[in-house]
Order: sequence, then C-alpha cells, then structure tokens
Amino acid sequence: MESGPSKVVISTDLPGAISRRQGKVRDVYEYEDGVLLVASDRISAFDVVMPTGIPDKGKVLTQVSAFWFEKTKHIVPNHLISTDVADFPEAVQPYADILEGRSMWCHKAEVVPVECVVRGYLAGSAWKAYQRGETFCGYDFPDGLREAAQLDEPLFTPTTKAESGHDEPITVEQCVELCCHKDAMAMQSHSIQLYKYAWEHASANGLLLADTKFEFGLIDGELTLIDEMLTPDSSRYWSANQWAPGHQPQGFDKQYLRDWLEELDDWDKTPPGPELPGHVVAKTRALYLELMERLTGRTP
Ligand SMILES: Nc1ncnc2c1ncn2[C@@H]1O[C@H](COP(=O)(O)OP(=O)(O)O)[C@@H](O)[C@H]1O
Ligand SMILES: [Mg+2]
Repeated sequence: MESGPSKVVISTDLPGAISRRQGKVRDVYEYEDGVLLVASDRISAFDVVMPTGIPDKGKVLTQVSAFWFEKTKHIVPNHLISTDVADFPEAVQPYADILEGRSMWCHKAEVVPVECVVRGYLAGSAWKAYQRGETFCGYDFPDGLREAAQLDEPLFTPTTKAESGHDEPITVEQCVELCCHKDAMAMQSHSIQLYKYAWEHASANGLLLADTKFEFGLIDGELTLIDEMLTPDSSRYWSANQWAPGHQPQGFDKQYLRDWLEELDDWDKTPPGPELPGHVVAKTRALYLELMERLTGRTP
C-alpha cells in the first residue's frame, strides 16, 4: 500500500560547501570533489516558483533521473556518482533524513549553455510557432499537421539557457556558435538516441514521450549528460490511450496547476505566486507519483 506524503522540503541550507545556488527546483552545492544536487519539493509554473510545495516531488525527480542515468549509461556517460547519502560529503551526513531519496552526488561539470530539446510530436512552443506559420529552430514543418501529431522523425530543437526569463529556440548553427561544431553534433546525436531509447521504454508502459530536454556539460573535457533526465519536469509524457492528433492529451506534470493558475483573476504571472489549494497539491502529486510508478515500477 502506498504510504502517505512525506514532509515537504521547500529549501535546504547545508554546511561545508564552496558555493550554494538555488535553481527553480534544485539547490546546488559545490564541494571540492563534486556537486550535490538536492531536489526540493518546489514547483514552478510560468517561470514563477510557487510558495506551496508538492510533497515527494523532489524524490520523484531524483529517482526518475537516477533510473534513467543507470539505464542509459551505455549510450552516453553521465555525471551521477551516487544517490546513497553515505557517499556524500562528511559535512552533510547529519542531514541524511532530509537528503535521503532526493539528492544526487555528481561530478562537477562546465555546463554547456544550450538546452538540448528533442521533439517527437508537435506540441507546446513548436505547435504555437507552427500555428503562426513560423519555422521552428530552422525546421519548416509540412502543411496540414494537427496539434500533438507525431513527427516523421524526432527533431533536435535546442534552446538558449536563459539566466532569467524564457529560453529561446535556436537553430543547430546557433548551437554550434554557443559551444563548438564537435560538441553540437554530438549533443544532437546523443539527444536523439536517448529520446528514441526512452520512447521505446515509455511505450512499453503505455506512455508516450512527446518531448524532452537534456543538458550536457564538460567533465575533464569529455561531453557528459548532466542535470536531471527524462523527469516529468523536463519532459512531456502522455498516456498512450489518450493520444489522438487534434488535441493536447493530459500530461503528467504541471498542467493541472497551470490550468488552475490560468483561471485566477488576480494573478498576473509575476512573483510571488499564489498559495496552492489542497486539490491542486493532491492532484499534482498523484500525477508525479503515477508517472514514476509507470516508468520505474516503484514509488518514492
Ligand atoms: N554536474 C553538474 N555540474 C554543474 N552544474 C550542474 C550539474 N548538473 C546540473 N547542474 C546545474 O544545476 C542547476 C540545477 O538546478 P535547477 O533547479 O534545474 O535550475 P534552473 O532553474 O536553472 O533550471 C542547473 O542550473 C544545472 O545546469
Ligand atoms: Mg532545471
């Protein structure tokens, strides 16, 4: 039987690090010999972090990432060293109860400033651009495609990695300018290979992987997969039996939250976000857990 929600973790403050940075979702601690990525239960929507957390969300993100890092290490090397707190720096050992299940000890990377998006279906910002008759990342899609249509081949549609604000779609040529020809080509081929591999696994579990985003970094000069991987925050998963071109299937992510936020009259999508009601927290949590269970066969 599923256990109840664990205590929500909004923010952490661990000792002994050279530096600490808070992303929208993760707290990133740099130590001498590695980085500790702690996934909090924070949730963001429209690029604004909500004041209310989703219990167990950070555990889902970490455990889904760890599942995929293990499964795909034969395709691309990745930054994960260990998810076992005993392997983490000495200074954080007293915080094991907070860190357990939601943290990854990783090799430190020089982050490549590109978000490596792969799309197998026409959704999200690509669908919006298509409706406006625009090309997207240099691709000119054929006429007559419907929302959520499957593309002939998965496409590499990279974006910038904006320090603040929205990431902008870029062409492969612009991607080359942001890193180098060799790394850009390798990121493109790795990303597409990973997408295809994950699509197969998701399909076998009744899920469609519509699109996803990878990040790469250089570790000792070698291109390596970093950050999170194929999680509900970085990917659009659909239930295969809800998919039909012409409408957007329900996702396993923040759609319920976004829909609720869109209905609010008194929030203009700037910080601070509103406190979330119980039904939004419960429904969102259930979707994250369901996705993890369907992909990995486990709950956090
Ligand atoms: N191995 C690594 N070395 C250095 N930085 C990393 C590594 N893996 C992930 N990161 C960075 O850690 C941050 C993770 O926090 P996140 O909450 O996702 O931030 P953001 O709001 O920028 O998406 C990202 O900026 C990511 O690029
Ligand atoms: Mg991120």
